[in-house]
Formats: sequence, C-alpha cells, structure tokens
Amino acid sequence: MFNLVMSRLRSATLKGKRVGLEVVETATTKRKRSHTAVKEEDTSSASSPSTYHTFHDAADVVLLRSQLLSWYDKEKRELPWRTVAETESDLNIRTYAVWVSEIMLQQTQVATVIDYYNKWMKRWPTVQDLAAATLEEVNQMWAGLGYYSRGKRLHEGAQKVVSELKGQMPRTVDGLLKQLPGVGRYTAAAIGSIALGQVTGAVDGNLIRVLCRLRAIGADSTSPAVTEALWSLANTLVDPGRPGDFNQAMMELGARVCTPKGALCSQCPVQSHCHSYHKVHVKQEKNSRKLLGKPNRKPSTLPDIEDCMNSGTCLLCPSEPWDDELGVQNFPRKPAKKPPRVERTLTCVVIRPGEEGGDEYLLTQRPNKGLLAGLWEFPSLLLEEKNSEMKQKQALCAEISRILGTQLAVSLLQYVGEVVHIFSHIHQTYVVHSVCLKDGDTHTQTENAQWLTRSALQEAAVSTGVKKIVKLCDSVDSQKEQTSKDGKRQKNDKKPQNSKKPRLSAANSSSRQLSLSSFFKTVKQES
Ligand code: ADE
Repeated sequence: MFNLVMSRLRSATLKGKRVGLEVVETATTKRKRSHTAVKEEDTSSASSPSTYHTFHDAADVVLLRSQLLSWYDKEKRELPWRTVAETESDLNIRTYAVWVSEIMLQQTQVATVIDYYNKWMKRWPTVQDLAAATLEEVNQMWAGLGYYSRGKRLHEGAQKVVSELKGQMPRTVDGLLKQLPGVGRYTAAAIGSIALGQVTGAVDGNLIRVLCRLRAIGADSTSPAVTEALWSLANTLVDPGRPGDFNQAMMELGARVCTPKGALCSQCPVQSHCHSYHKVHVKQEKNSRKLLGKPNRKPSTLPDIEDCMNSGTCLLCPSEPWDDELGVQNFPRKPAKKPPRVERTLTCVVIRPGEEGGDEYLLTQRPNKGLLAGLWEFPSLLLEEKNSEMKQKQALCAEISRILGTQLAVSLLQYVGEVVHIFSHIHQTYVVHSVCLKDGDTHTQTENAQWLTRSALQEAAVSTGVKKIVKLCDSVDSQKEQTSKDGKRQKNDKKPQNSKKPRLSAANSSSRQLSLSSFFKTVKQES
C-alpha cells in the first residue's frame, strides 16, 4: 500500500512538473513544437500504456481467470456450437462447425443464429458437404439472416478448403486468417481458441465493452491505440489451459452481465477488478459527502487513485468528461455513427394465378455483387428525386414488360403501402404497388426472373425486405376481405356499399384484374 501511494506520489510530482513546464511555455514555443515530436510522444504512450490500463499483477490475472471461468461453468448457455466444440473429436469437423458459428454470429444475435445454425449443420455437416452445395442453396439457407456476403464467403471458403487444402481446415490462427475468405483477426482467433485450443485472446464487440470497463479505457474504441491495447489485454488475460472457454466466458459476460445498457454489476464475477465500477462508487461517495456538506477525505493535490496518471496525454483515456448519469456506461466510447443513407425504392408485386390454384409471384435476381448480392426480389427501381413519380413508374413498368415480353401500362399499378427496412447503412423505404395478371400466358423472357408459388417464395433466397413486403400485402388483403364481408352484411341489411379497392390475390380475381390482352388494349387506348 505504502509503495502504491509512493509511486502515485512520484507520478503526481512528475505530472505536476510537466504541467508547470507547460504553464511557462509561450504560445510561440508551443507553435514551434514540431508535429513529429507530438507523434513520438503519442506513439510512446500507445506502446506502453499506463499500468492503470493494463493487468500488471500476475496474481490479479490468475484470480480473474478463475473467477470468470467458475462463473461460466455455472452460468453458460448451452449453445449448439459450444456442444460441438466440446464433444466433436474430429478436428476438421470441429473447426468447420465453429467457423460456421462464428460467421453467423458476426453482426447477428445468438438467439437468431441458433435455428439457422442447426438447419445448416444438419444439411451440410462437413466442409465437403458445403463445398458441394450451390450458391443458390446457400443463399436460400441464409435468407433472413442478413449480411448475405457472409454465406457466400463461407461457401467460397469451403470450396477452397476442398480444392486447395485437400479438404483439411487450417490448423492455426494464422492459417485461418490467411486461407479463409471473410475471416479476420477476431474470427480467426475465436475459431483458433475454441476449436483448436490455440492460446490467443479474441476481441469482439462484447470484449471491447468488458475490457474498456475493466481498465477504464474511454478513448475512441475504434482508434488504433485502443484496438492494440485491447488485443494486448485479451492476450494477457486469456487462460492458457482453457483459451476457448475463457474467450467465450468473456463474450458471455458481455452479452448477459456487462451489457451495453443497464449493466448488472452486482452479478459480475470480476467486479473487484473493474476500474469503471470502482470509479462509479468513488464518485457516488464523493457526491454524497458533498451533499451532506462533509469535506473530502483526500487532499486535493493528490490525483485520484482511480485515475490514470497520464490522463492529459494518455491515448486510452477519455477525451470527454465523466458523466455521472452514465455510470459504467462511460466506457467504451465510440465515434458518432454516420447517419444512414435514406433511400426509396419503387417495388411492384406482380401476381398471376398459378397452375395449381394458388397465386404465383414474379421475382427477379439482384446482381452477383453489392448489396443483397444474388438474392431474389420483386421488380424494383431505386427512386430518384430528380425524376417525376410518373416517369419512374413508367420505367418500372417498362422493366416488367421487358421481363414478360409484353407491355404493362402504368395505370394498372395499384398502390399497396410502404415498408421500411433498415440496413446497417441504409434507411430503405419500399413504395409497394401491385398488379394482378389474369392469363397464364406470362412466361418470363429474361434470365434472372422466375415465377414462384407462395410456398416457394417462403423458401426462396429473398431478403427480409421482401418478406416484409409479402406481409404488408397479406395484411392489406385481409383488411379488404374484412371490408368486403362487412359490405356484404350491410348489403344484406339493404344498405348500398361500394368497395373501390381490388383484392391483391389473383386466385380470387376482382374485376380490376387484367389479362395480357387487355394490357395491350389499355396501351393502345392510351397511345
Ligand atoms: N459471439 C461470437 N462468438 C460467440 C460464441 N462462441 N458464443 C456466444 N456468443 C458469441
């Protein structure tokens, strides 16, 4: 204790000296200080952060590992990929299974992933099975999970393992990182530690939060200095005997206790190591002493024991002041997100009566690159403000006409409603219209277009946006059904009723449903 106080006193004195120097520095000399000098100072404090932000006591590290792992052994959720990692003796299958789970878990919640994972592993239990699948099948399986390039990369990776690596999954973190597309630093470390027992930390979003709070790291968590400090911390802490369990325990702690909001500090197994928790309590105590009019116990010339000694220059300390309201949520800090791009897309649900009685829907395939690559969607057109609504509807009709080899008049489009879908970087509104065709003579004339029955549509490689559009159409349909029932009842009650809106469903065709020949007529009439 005495040593600690003495070392803090020494640092405080040094800090005081430096502050003193700066006070006598003139504006001119300040300006003269070269950019390089500042950079050098930054680099040196980045490469050796103050001990406040590290775990420098080996006994502390041993204690933290054992507290965390005991908690994990009692509290962990049984998750399918954890079961495989614990029970599968074939290293190739184990690595493949953990790889699939880690890719699915990138940007997707555990609860959503479980079903997808189980279905995937049932269909493609080995890397060879996945390599033999088509991309269409993979996209179909991935439908609804989002970030579709992940499925594509898994498929590409499986084909590479089979064709270039003799069917053997890489056996090291470095091999995973270099050989598998879509596998970055975190994913390689997670697979390496969980499936292969490699001793490495693995810093994902949960670990960023847990580590930043444990060591009060409040600078921009995406900065290179913080990133390197976090990896260094993770590598120091990871348990060499149980690296995979340790990393998953940290993730579990981040997901269930050290949550982004409303952290459950009272349930935290490593609370005693947490600088943020300590800071919150010291601040609370100070505030209540102030409220009660009691003087602070510590002389004000000493730095707070709960602070970094280099906070003025430290690359890991927050640049913004502490906010009492936030508590431990003062950590971590991220730069403000760019607002999403706002887009509107005109979409047309084209329906025809199918041969087997139900409706069929026209779908077109998106390009193989870019957003939602290779997925199927209703014919769509990105709306541009500079063009009139009529012009854009005409353009969409022209596209549908091209697909069907006939001409579709704008007047046939019926407005259904709007659907909002938020991608990570785009706020997308689909402006949905529909058109119901009567004839069976509606063969698609282009590649990348197909008619799907309702059940095929449900199973197809479509995005969540398309699923939302189908839902909207269904709800409009059932509203109309209700209105029409009410209307009939009222008619029976001898009250006149005129429902203007047509049904969406082609199977129960309304008077507004038009055959292709009537499209021609309509166009002729217009021209
Ligand atoms: N997120 C990423 N990997 C995970 C894992 N193995 N368990 C739980 N959540 C995770």
